[in-house]
Amino acid sequence: MKVADVWQQFEKKLSQQKSLEDLEVLRIEFLGRKGRINQLLQKITQLPPEKRKEFGQEVNQLKRKIEAAIESKKQELKVELENNLSKEKLDVTLPGQEPNLGHLHPITQMKWEIADIFQRMGFEVLEPVLEVNTDYANFGALNIPPDHPARDMWDTFWTREGYIPITHTSSMQNWIYRNRKPPIRAVIIGRIFRHEATDASHEHTFYQIEGVYVDKNVTVANLIETMRVFFSEFYGRQLRAKIRPSYFPFVEPGLELAIECVLCNQKGCPVCKHSGWLEILGCGQIHPFVLKEGGIDPKKYTGFAWGMGLDRMVMLRYMIEDVRHFHSGDLRFIRKF
Ligand code: FA5
Repeated sequence: MKVADVWQQFEKKLSQQKSLEDLEVLRIEFLGRKGRINQLLQKITQLPPEKRKEFGQEVNQLKRKIEAAIESKKQELKVELENNLSKEKLDVTLPGQEPNLGHLHPITQMKWEIADIFQRMGFEVLEPVLEVNTDYANFGALNIPPDHPARDMWDTFWTREGYIPITHTSSMQNWIYRNRKPPIRAVIIGRIFRHEATDASHEHTFYQIEGVYVDKNVTVANLIETMRVFFSEFYGRQLRAKIRPSYFPFVEPGLELAIECVLCNQKGCPVCKHSGWLEILGCGQIHPFVLKEGGIDPKKYTGFAWGMGLDRMVMLRYMIEDVRHFHSGDLRFIRKF
């Protein structure tokens, strides 16, 4: 093969190279130990001695030409690569763009926050085992037998079969007593249902947080202190609160805790029904009947329980003027959180 043919072949291939890696392959093909140039040089022995010198010079010239061509192609490809890289350059120090993935509902956010506070205070956090439960769980085990007038305190839905979409998280109390041993410290966060005429502070579907604490020598003082610690953690400031006697068949004594209405600064508004106070929870010392029904000896153990309205707590936190926003499905409302 003639030296000129080898150059022609090389030139053709060189023009097709698109990357530095391919160029290296081409270099080895022509300039490598077993490459085309060395193959040509090996042919020198087949030539008559007078032609060898000239042929040798020709091949060496070709070798240098190829080396130079490869070097200049290499530079060309490098510049091209740098240009491409700078076009695609990514500044990793720039702040990221927040993806629009949606977010948790304010009630869910609060549920998690409250669960976290109570866990830090040593309470176990649970959800109701059933959202539709028996008459016994919702009423009977809580010292509210059939035909007891206190049943009217909870506007109740019934299924045809006689089951109840739970009207309060207290429906979990019996389960807790039967499934745990004192000392019991548990919080149940769940959705509940009431056959209510709705208004700015009353929904038919809302969330409650039930808490129970059963041990030896538990008193109302422990209850009040537990609530004080929780509320100052949750609102991050001291809010005026008042406790007044109340009646729930499953606690004795029964109490109600109200917090100052931050929506109107106690001037009076539809949410607090112009009283300046928003009733936030019912609580009290667990009735001996309820402990006994749960398999706990009321002579040995005492305890307190409370049930608070999560929706109303969120309203006070964010100054929301109507509880019905939570289930409205109105995205303009949801996106504010
Ligand atoms: C009860 O449901 C009792 N089970 C609470 C309890 C538990 C008392 C343990 C003693 C011991 P009540 O019906 O008052 O109580 O509801 C408790 C809280 O739920 C109220 O203080 C209020 O914050 C909230 N709540 C009541 N009704 C509604 C409603 N329709 N919409 C929104 N929140 C409500």
